[in-house]
Amino acid sequence: MSDNDWLASVPRLELGHGPTPLEPLHRLSRELGGPMIWLKRDDCTGLATGGNKTRKLEYLMADALEQGADCIVTYGAVQSNHARQTAAACAKLGLPCHLLLSQRVDWPHESYQTQGNVLLDKLLGAILHTSSLEDAATARKKLLEKLHGEGRRVYEIPAGGSSPVGALGYTRCLEELMAQCADQGVGGNLIVHASASAGTQTGLVFGKSVLDLDAKILGINVFHPDPQTLKDRVTQLATKMAESWPQAELKQAFDVQVNHAYFGEGYGQPTQGCIRAINMAAQLEGLLFDPVYSGKALAALIDQINLGNLNHLDDVILIHTGGGASLGAYIDAF
Ligand SMILES: Cc1ncc(COP(=O)(O)O)c(C=O)c1O
Repeated sequence: MSDNDWLASVPRLELGHGPTPLEPLHRLSRELGGPMIWLKRDDCTGLATGGNKTRKLEYLMADALEQGADCIVTYGAVQSNHARQTAAACAKLGLPCHLLLSQRVDWPHESYQTQGNVLLDKLLGAILHTSSLEDAATARKKLLEKLHGEGRRVYEIPAGGSSPVGALGYTRCLEELMAQCADQGVGGNLIVHASASAGTQTGLVFGKSVLDLDAKILGINVFHPDPQTLKDRVTQLATKMAESWPQAELKQAFDVQVNHAYFGEGYGQPTQGCIRAINMAAQLEGLLFDPVYSGKALAALIDQINLGNLNHLDDVILIHTGGGASLGAYIDAF
């Protein structure tokens, strides 16, 4: 019996394209003069321009259908990639999708409110609700009361799809990635990714323990002003995963590593390094990164290579968590 038979037995709907490729970035790596950067292309998961939420939604939507839901409600910032991928999953499954989007990012250009993910949410047929950050809890309560009053069987997905069920998507991703490293002869000692609502990092950290890997999993904090909040959240979610799937044998303590140095002025505020990294990836590799999440993770990796901190490695892995759909909302940042 393989280590992860417990995972194969959890209900999952195939919503995305997989396995996503693991590709070398030859030109960017040569330009930087450090280890070979291998990109795990989770920007190509397939659900309406892809991204990391697709893997979480495969488990969340299976759970929703099992529970007999006839309507999905989820939450996020106005330019939430999670909201857009949830809208796409709902369209594919024929479920009404309510998105409660809160104004938590101060980006005054009007494109932020209308372009990028907002445009796609509408195109995908989602029902959009907006609120200020302060009013988000009240708006949620009112929306749920209204839907329950109409007799709807609501399945609520937390912001970012970051529940123990959603995080399973990244435990599965780690299993897929390790198989690719073995097949392609890639060193998997360092895995870098953008971290926010913590589900991606939790799934990876949980997987590292179950698979008993040496790899360092490094979350680049893009959301929490205090990085300890992110670390605590990963540990709490991973502990809940362990309670939910006791068949998964943990072989190590949870190893939660977060870098806060690339956070900049706040969530949704691109740094100069992030904008530079996005331009480099676009012009050297023909790749699209985003100003909120994956661009900051790429900026972190580029800086660490430039500082010489990764010279001891032949290969580094960056998980491209997607987000390119928001580029048009940040038109004035470029
Ligand atoms: C493009 C992108 N990358 C990374 C993340 C972070 O993932 P998580 O919320 O699971 O920490 C998100 C989610 O908000 C995202 O949209």
